[in-house]
Amino acid sequence: MEKTFYVTTPIYYVNDVPHIGHAYTTLACDVLARYKRARGYQVAFLTGTDEHGQKVETAAKANGETPLELADRVVKRFQALWKKLNISHTDFIRTTQERHKHTVQEQFKAIEAKGDIYLGEYEDWYCTPCETFWTETQLLDGNCPDCGRPTTKLKEESYFFRMSKYQDQLLEYIGNNPDFIQPKSRRNEILSFVREGLRDLSISRTSFSWGIPAPGNDKHVIYVWFDALTNYISALGYPEDKDGNFETFWPAVHVIGKDILRFHAVYWPTFLMAAGLPLPKKVFAHGWWTVEGQKMSKSLRNVVEPNMLVDKYGVDAIRYFLLREVPFGLDGDFSHSALIHRINSDLANDLGNLVSRSTAMLGKYFAGELPEPGARLEIDEKLIELFAANLTKIDEQLEDMAFNKALMSIWELISAGNKYIDETAPWTLAKDPQQRERLATVMYNLLESLRLIALIVAPFMPETGAKISSLLGADGTNLALDGQDQWGGLKPGTTIEKAAPLFPRIETE
Ligand code: MSP
Repeated sequence: MEKTFYVTTPIYYVNDVPHIGHAYTTLACDVLARYKRARGYQVAFLTGTDEHGQKVETAAKANGETPLELADRVVKRFQALWKKLNISHTDFIRTTQERHKHTVQEQFKAIEAKGDIYLGEYEDWYCTPCETFWTETQLLDGNCPDCGRPTTKLKEESYFFRMSKYQDQLLEYIGNNPDFIQPKSRRNEILSFVREGLRDLSISRTSFSWGIPAPGNDKHVIYVWFDALTNYISALGYPEDKDGNFETFWPAVHVIGKDILRFHAVYWPTFLMAAGLPLPKKVFAHGWWTVEGQKMSKSLRNVVEPNMLVDKYGVDAIRYFLLREVPFGLDGDFSHSALIHRINSDLANDLGNLVSRSTAMLGKYFAGELPEPGARLEIDEKLIELFAANLTKIDEQLEDMAFNKALMSIWELISAGNKYIDETAPWTLAKDPQQRERLATVMYNLLESLRLIALIVAPFMPETGAKISSLLGADGTNLALDGQDQWGGLKPGTTIEKAAPLFPRIETE
C-alpha cells in the first residue's frame, strides 16, 4: 500500500489580511508536505479560508459590499501570498463553496439523527444598537465591546451538540494517545480543561444570517466553528467520497496556533466521535509571534506583511528565518535585526560560502569536472557518518515538528563541510602532484556533501535546494530523498560550474 500523509493549516478568516502569523502556520505545513513527498509519501495538503460568521457580515456591511464580495477580494490576497511563499498545497477550500456546505449539512444531519444535536435555548448578552450577541467573557465591564453601551441578557433559540456525552471517551483517547495533542504542555492544558467537565455546545445562531443554514430550519445558521472545522473532511469529499480521497487520506495532522487549540482538541474530536469517524492523527499548536517585542495589531500599525519581507529578503530567507528562529510550540519575537543576522551568518556565510568555495575549488583544481574519489581516510569516514546520522535524526525531528532542531542538524552538516575544507586544506594538496588522488577524494566528498545538503534543505528552502541540485548537474525538480540519500550519489565526470553567490550579505548601517 502507498504511504499517505494529510496535513492541514487552519482556514484563515477573511476579515483580516495575511500577516506573518498566518504565513508561519502555512510554511510549517509546507515543509512537512514537501519533506513527506521527498520521502515517497502521497501527500494531501489543505489550506483555505473561513468565510462565514458575524464578523465577516459586519466587516462587509461597513465596506458597503456583500460578504461574498469581501471574501472574494481577501481570498485572492491569501492565494497570491501562498504562491509567493512557494506553498505547495494540493487543495484550497473556501467555506462558501458548495462542496463544503454540503458536507457541513450532512454532518449536522448525521449527528442529529443520532440524537446528539437537539434544539434548546441559549442565554447571552445582547447589544440592541449593534444587534449583536456577546458572551459573558467578551463583554467589557458588562458593556458591549464594540460600542461600549449596556447590554441585556436575552434568550435565543439554539441547536446544541451533546458534547458532555463525550467527555470520558475524549479523556480516554487523549490518555491512550500521548502524541495526539502536542506540545506536551498544551496537552496538559486540554486534559485539565476536559476534566473540569464538558458542557453541551451551542452550535447555531438566529441573530445573523451569513452562514450555512441548519438543515430543515432556515431560521438558524450553523455556528462558525462547527462549519469551519468540517473543512478538513469536506475537502476530501466526505461523506460520498466519490474520488476515494477520504478513504486514502483521513485522518489528518492539524497544525494550528495555540489560540485555537481548544476547538481542535476538544470540539472537533467530539464532533468526529459523534459522527463515528476516526480522530485526527495529531493536533500541534504552535506559539505566537510578537513584533520587536510587541503584540502585532492593526492599531499599533506593526503588522508584519510577508509580501514586503519576501520582496526585500527573498522567499527562502523568510522561510528559513521563521522556522529556525523559534522552537515550534513556543512564542517568538520577530525583529529585522534578528532576520538580517540569520541571513548574513547562516545563509550567506555558512551555506553560501560552502557552496561557492567547493564549486570554485573544483573549477580551479579539476576544471569543473568531478574526479573519481580514491581511498578514504578517517576524516572522510567521519564526515560520511555524520551525514547518515543526521539524516536519520532530521527524520525524527520532523516527526516531532521540531523544525528549528531539524535546521540545526542541517547546519551541523554545513559547518562540518566548511570545517572539512579547513582541515583538509585543498590549496595545500593542490601544490603537491603526489597528492592528486587525495585532492580528488576531498573534492568529491565536498561536492557530494552539497548534493545531500541540497536535498535535505529543499523542503525548507525549495529554491535553494533546486539551485544547488541543478548546479551539481541533477534535475532541480526532482528532489526526492527516498533512495537518493545514501553517500555516493554524484557521478564522477559530472561537470559542475562555479556557483554565483546564493545569498548576498545584507549591509546595515
Ligand atoms: N478561522 C479560524 C480557524 C479555523 S480552523 C478550522 C482562525 N483564523 S485566523 O485567521 O484568525 O487565524 C489562523 C491562524 O493564524 C491561527 O492558527 C493563529 O494561531 C495564527 N496566527 C494569527 N496570529 C498569529 C501570530 N501573531 N503568531 C503566530 N500565529 C498567529 O482562527
